[in-house]
Amino acid sequence: MAAPFTLRAAALHTPAPDTLEHWPDALIAVDASGSIQSVQPYNGQTPDNLLTLPPGHILLPGLIDLHIHAPQWPQLGTALDLPLEQWLQDHTFPLEARYADSDFAAEVYGAMVPALLANGTTTALYFGSIHLPATQILAETCLRHGQRALVGRVAMDHPELCPPEYRDASAAQAEADTRSLIKAIRALPGNESALVRPVITPRFIPACTDDLLHRLGKLAAETGCHVQTHASESDWEHEHVLDRCGCSDTEALGGFGLLTRRSVLAHGNLLGDDDLALIRETGAAVAHCPLSNAYFAGAVFPLRRALAHGVRVGLGTDIAGGAHPSMLDSARMAITASRMLETGVDPALPAGRRGRPGARIDATTALWLATAAGGAALDLPIGQFRPGYQFDAIAISPGSNLTLPPGEAPARLLERIIHTASRANVARVWVAGREVA
Ligand code: GUN
Ligand code: FE
Repeated sequence: MAAPFTLRAAALHTPAPDTLEHWPDALIAVDASGSIQSVQPYNGQTPDNLLTLPPGHILLPGLIDLHIHAPQWPQLGTALDLPLEQWLQDHTFPLEARYADSDFAAEVYGAMVPALLANGTTTALYFGSIHLPATQILAETCLRHGQRALVGRVAMDHPELCPPEYRDASAAQAEADTRSLIKAIRALPGNESALVRPVITPRFIPACTDDLLHRLGKLAAETGCHVQTHASESDWEHEHVLDRCGCSDTEALGGFGLLTRRSVLAHGNLLGDDDLALIRETGAAVAHCPLSNAYFAGAVFPLRRALAHGVRVGLGTDIAGGAHPSMLDSARMAITASRMLETGVDPALPAGRRGRPGARIDATTALWLATAAGGAALDLPIGQFRPGYQFDAIAISPGSNLTLPPGEAPARLLERIIHTASRANVARVWVAGREVA
C-alpha cells in the first residue's frame, strides 16, 4: 500500500468510443489502495500530499495491451514475411520451447516488463509459454515491477499441429499445470490485491484437442478465471477450424464453454454476424491487433461492425506478430488500418467500389480502445479517471516529435499525441497509485 495523494494535472480520457473529456487543470485524489477517490477541477484547494505535474504535461489513463505473447519478445521485428503457420512452426514454437530454461525466462521477462512499463503499458494480458515455472516467473516479474497483468500458461496438446518438443504431454497434464498456475498466482506473496491474475489460455483450436478444450471450459466455469485464445484470425486458421469442427471458431469455443464475460478472443478478423451475436450474448471480448493482422491475416478487423453488434473490443500489440511494443503505435495503426478499410486500397478499382464506408476511427476512438475499452473487455475498473477506478496513468510530456501547444483544443492535442508520441514522451507511469517507471 502506498500513501494517499492528490495529483494536480491537465488530464484527458475517453470514457466512450466517441467521447473525449478534458480537464485543463484537474485534482485527482487517490487512496492508499490506488483507487481514485475524486476527480475535480483545481480551484485553489490545498490537499495533503499534493503532487503537481509540470505545465505542458498531459495525464492519460494507462495503456492496456489486450494481447501480447511474452515469450516472443526476443523475436520482436523478425520473420514477419512468413505466413502464420510457417512462422509458428519455424520460429515461434522453437523460441517458446527455450523457456524450459527458467534462467532464460527470468532474463527475458526481467528486461521486457520494465520496457513495456516505460512505453506506458500499465496492464497486459499475456500469453506465456507451456512451462509452469517460466510462466510463474513472468507473473512474479510483473508483480515485482508493479505492472498490472493477466498471465496465462499456454495450453497446446494437439499432436498434429504442435511439435513433440513443444507440446503438452496430455490434456490432463495441461489442465493440471493450468490449475497449478492459477493457484500459484493467486497465492503469490504481495499479490493480495490481485494485481496479477491467472488466465486460462488454450492457444487456439488448431493447437488443442477437443478433450483439452472441454477441460479448460469446465475449469473456466469452476474458477471464474479470465480466458484468452485466438479466434478467426486468418484464412488458414479459420478454414482449419471449419474443417475440423464443422463450425466457426466462435461457435466451437462456445460449445467448449470458453466464451464467458471474462474471455478475450484475439484477432477475430473473419468473424461473421452470427459469431458477433454469440460473442455479444456471452459477454466475451475481442482484442484487435491491427499491425499483426496486416502481416498474418491480410485483413483489417471490422471494428465498427463489431461495435455496432455491441461487442466489447480492446487493442493489442500481439507481440511478436506485431513488432511495436508501444500501444501508442497500435492505436495509430488502428486508425491507419480503419482508413484503408474505409477507402479500400486497390487503385485499379473505381473509388466507389474499393472500400467499406463508415469503417474509419479517429484518435478519440483509438485512445478509447487502448484504455477504457480494454478495461471493459477485462471486466476491471481501469482505463478511466473516475471515482472507484484504479489510478493507472501515464504522463505525456512534449519533446522528441511531439509538440503540445498551450491553448490548443483537447481533440487536437490528443491527435498530436496519438500520431506522434512515442516511448520518449512517456514521462511518468503509475499503476494502482504506485509510480512504476
Ligand atoms: N495463433 C496461434 N498462435 C499464435 C501466435 O503466437 N500469434 C498469432 N498472431 N497467432 C497465433
Ligand atoms: Fe497472438
